[in-house]
Amino acid sequence: MDYKNLIKLAKEAQKKAYAPYSNFLVGAAVMTKSGKTYTGCNIECASYGATNCAERTAIFNAVSQGDRDIKAIAVVGDIDNYTFPCGICRQVIIEYGNDIEIIVAKTEDDYKIFTIKKLLPYSFSPKDLEEK
Ligand code: THU
Repeated sequence: MDYKNLIKLAKEAQKKAYAPYSNFLVGAAVMTKSGKTYTGCNIECASYGATNCAERTAIFNAVSQGDRDIKAIAVVGDIDNYTFPCGICRQVIIEYGNDIEIIVAKTEDDYKIFTIKKLLPYSFSPKDLEEK
């Protein structure tokens, strides 16, 4: 799968980041199994804990539009290195499937792909609630 376009969308979304406190701008783009895409940026808050990461903004954008069948999410950060999803975002990502691909990108040509189950091993997820 070529994720260049998804990375490009994440980079576009990054421009909308509202990060006056950290100045760390992040963009994300979700692709669902239907091929649709949804973007998001980080949105900070004077009450710091209320900050929403780019990944969750993009996922909530998809879910709130009724599209929960997530295939992949691309993330672009503000450093010359790959930006990985934080722990809270990993938990939110695995809610929608163990095999979701996470593309951490420096550029459209320089990226790495990991499945969420690789980034969040031994997780608690919806399947655990089904076992009860
Ligand atoms: N941030 C994200 O949006 N995604 C990540 O993967 C890492 C961190 C945001 C949260 C906060 O607005 C800023 O980056 C610094 O932590």
